[in-house]
Amino acid sequence: MPRLGILGGGQLAKMTAQAASTLDVEVVIFAQRDDEPALKVTPYAVIGAWDDEAKLAAFAQQCEVATLESEFVDVAILRRLEALGVRVVPSPDTVEQIQDKYDQKRRMQSAGVEVPRFRKVSVATDVLDAAAEFGFPLMLKARRNGYDGYGNALIQRAHDIAPALEKFQGRELMVEAVVPFLRELAIIIARGADGDIRDYPVVETIQRNGICHVVRCPAPTDEASALAAIEMGKRAVEAIDGVGVFGVEMFELPGNEVVFNEVAPRPHNSGHYTIEGTITSQFENHVRAVLGWPLGDVAQIAPATVMINILGERSGDPNPDALREALATGGVHFHLYGKREVRPGRKMGHVTVLGYSVDGAEKVARLALSRLQL
Ligand SMILES: Nc1ncnc2c1ncn2[C@@H]1O[C@H](COP(=O)(O)OP(=O)(O)OP(=O)(O)O)[C@@H](O)[C@H]1O
Ligand SMILES: [Mg+2]
Repeated sequence: MPRLGILGGGQLAKMTAQAASTLDVEVVIFAQRDDEPALKVTPYAVIGAWDDEAKLAAFAQQCEVATLESEFVDVAILRRLEALGVRVVPSPDTVEQIQDKYDQKRRMQSAGVEVPRFRKVSVATDVLDAAAEFGFPLMLKARRNGYDGYGNALIQRAHDIAPALEKFQGRELMVEAVVPFLRELAIIIARGADGDIRDYPVVETIQRNGICHVVRCPAPTDEASALAAIEMGKRAVEAIDGVGVFGVEMFELPGNEVVFNEVAPRPHNSGHYTIEGTITSQFENHVRAVLGWPLGDVAQIAPATVMINILGERSGDPNPDALREALATGGVHFHLYGKREVRPGRKMGHVTVLGYSVDGAEKVARLALSRLQL
């Protein structure tokens, strides 16, 4: 059996390692700290900085193939791993094409994927120029390292420009026209090394303060929009020659139009529902694709599945008794990631409920969540 390396030790690495384990694939985690969630589920680990040459070599020695849980890794490190004899999937080229949101949008645009109007900006007059062309509101985005909305600032009027630029001082920036979406859609696409491509169900995602909060499967949209979303998802992954599992985020507009937001080269929060909600989870398909194995069936198990993130609501130690009462709620799959510290908005875990209707499943998931005081 090959041993799979994962750069990163967060919840995505943890759930990937859990899926790998069911196929008896051993996983080695390269974590930057010794308290990361994924370290709890595998005995094989390297702990240190990814750019520490000795640590990287120790990691490379323990795995034949490696993947990542975050696109914000220096591609030079991925290429260094390849030089050390490790196959890296998705490829450094794929990661490089998307880790800058501006380059990513240009790539997608040239592949014929509909994107919001966007442009590079650095000073206030650039933003004013964009406003003259696109109109307000605008979304200012840090081009790199943005996640859970932390790299974004909404600009509703000229007055908001200076504070928004101030917030991202020293970072490369872009602005986008704010898309007046009906709803946000997402899709998980799995693509094998042989080009075999599988589309998971199209879901609706609901964000709270820019953070994914609720995922409803299937999205309550009509067939034409769902088909457009599937086409866009596949095209986006093919445009970057992606191998592995990818999360593609989109906006749905009236008239069955979908507009691309972003693609992540890894299992994605909008796909956590697949652990119980589809025959093969996104994590298992990621492992299969990365190892060059055949992909699994992506069909839904129940007519409806709802996932809700357990987001931190305060700062401090997690409440060790939080689960007890919530566990009494029947029909709920609980996932606690095992993060040592709670922070407001931090993803601490999630719950998933399968049912006959999305509304029914969501009611049960919300009930479980209301009983879970982390
Ligand atoms: N151009 C836009 N028009 C309308 N809403 C937007 C736009 N860009 C971003 N948003 C809103 O902000 C959220 C977060 O934006 P984006 O996906 O760019 O950030 P992120 O930090 O990379 O996200 P995450 O890590 O949560 O996926 C989106 O899901 C959407 O709700
Ligand atoms: Mg996003």
